[in-house]
Amino acid sequence: MAKQFSGNVFDKVQDEQRQGEVYTLEATAAGKKKMYLESYGCQMNFSDSEIVASIMAENNYVPTTALEEADVVFINTCSIRENAEQKVRGRLQVFRQHKKLKPDMTIGVLGCMAERLKSKLLEQEKLVDLVVGPDAYKDLPNLLSQVESGQPAVNVLLSREETYADITPVRLGGNGILAFVTIMRGCDNMCSFCVVPFTRGRERSRDAHSIIEECRDLWQRGYKEVTLLGQNVDSYHYTAADGSENVNFAQLLALVAQIDPGLRVRFSTSHPKDITDEVLHTMAAYHNICKNIHLPVQSGNTEVLKRMNRTYDRAWYLNRVEAIRRILPDCAITSDVIAGFCGETEEQHQDTLSIMELSGYTMSFMFKYSERPGTLAARKFEDDVPEEVKSRRLQEIIDLQGKLSLLSNEQDVGKTFEVLVEGPSRKSDEHFCGRNSQNKMIVFPKGNTQAGQYVKVKVERCTQATLLGNLVD
Ligand code: 5AD
Ligand code: SF4
Repeated sequence: MAKQFSGNVFDKVQDEQRQGEVYTLEATAAGKKKMYLESYGCQMNFSDSEIVASIMAENNYVPTTALEEADVVFINTCSIRENAEQKVRGRLQVFRQHKKLKPDMTIGVLGCMAERLKSKLLEQEKLVDLVVGPDAYKDLPNLLSQVESGQPAVNVLLSREETYADITPVRLGGNGILAFVTIMRGCDNMCSFCVVPFTRGRERSRDAHSIIEECRDLWQRGYKEVTLLGQNVDSYHYTAADGSENVNFAQLLALVAQIDPGLRVRFSTSHPKDITDEVLHTMAAYHNICKNIHLPVQSGNTEVLKRMNRTYDRAWYLNRVEAIRRILPDCAITSDVIAGFCGETEEQHQDTLSIMELSGYTMSFMFKYSERPGTLAARKFEDDVPEEVKSRRLQEIIDLQGKLSLLSNEQDVGKTFEVLVEGPSRKSDEHFCGRNSQNKMIVFPKGNTQAGQYVKVKVERCTQATLLGNLVD
């Protein structure tokens, strides 16, 4: 799916795992080496790819979209579910065919799969020349020299400090309007189903000054929206080395929002156990902090949540939803949902359906449970929900989300929203599309507007996925 990077996580109802997006900047300078980089997985991975491109640019590499021309081929990988890894293996076979025609081509695996499988990718599977984990990208130039001298190279060391705060990411494949800014790395939560704490290491927060500088620089370069990224943004906490400054997530949000009222601020992902009323009040205080919270529930049943080690129960989650509704009445809530976790009964599955309805999600990412080697769940519980039951439950979850999305969109018909114009709509050159604060996509006839502008659009009709409207003064 070499689709244009629209820069938004929320436009795919079924699968947030982005696949195989290839940079669109072509090599510009003669005499430079060419890097082909394909990225899979979550938004953090795409953000990391921009860091990799920056490190490579410093070392005389320019991106190319032509695989056959590349001196170096990188694949930035995802391990979250088995099928994500399968796709990467398929691509590695394709790269191998290219290498047969161009033997001096270097093939490198980056990201979560590199971290999970380490040197196995070199030794047992003999698929690649280079294996680099998410905290080792600064070592890429050394590792590439090692490969050039004929030695395969691996660096999968995880760090407690690395945040790449000193690297200015090269913005690739974007539209110059939306950008992603990583504010923290790693995760300390240890949800029992999740491989991320093993592949991305311990949680660490990036220096608040460098985040604000990056966002200010983006604003000055014409960007209109930043999304602050982290596995668990609510536990962001920056403390200056001398202890003189402390910045929590609510304070960081306010600082970014203050850069300019014209700069929209989004963030992802929130953890239900950590999202505070302070964050909600900060969102209420700033018009430019978008009113959308991605608050993954995973399951609606307290016993399943316990086995998942999510550290909240059904009542706690519903209390957080109630707080959002009270403090931010116009806020959209989106979620991640897992069908068929170990030991999930039919009644427990019904609790997931009912919490989805009670929370009124505008959109969810929905998955079948996929056992990941080495995780707590793989060690402690049997993956005992039969495949056909998982599929049926997932389908029920998808069907319900479809209804909830449609219901929510129908309630918006007749309302007028401020929309940040992103560009032409997928279906028609005569129409533009953009998102409202709630992150809903709105399509409207272009008129005299331009990408990057804020416009007012009155919604006239809707589908499950989109609002359709007309410009108003
Ligand atoms: N199986 C299925 N879904 C998973 N996720 C994480 N690990 C697994 C797994 N082993 C989902 C969760 C998480 C999202 C990023 O991916 O819903 O929030
Ligand atoms: Fe995985 Fe849980 Fe951390 Fe999210 S919060 S990355 S699901 S361990």
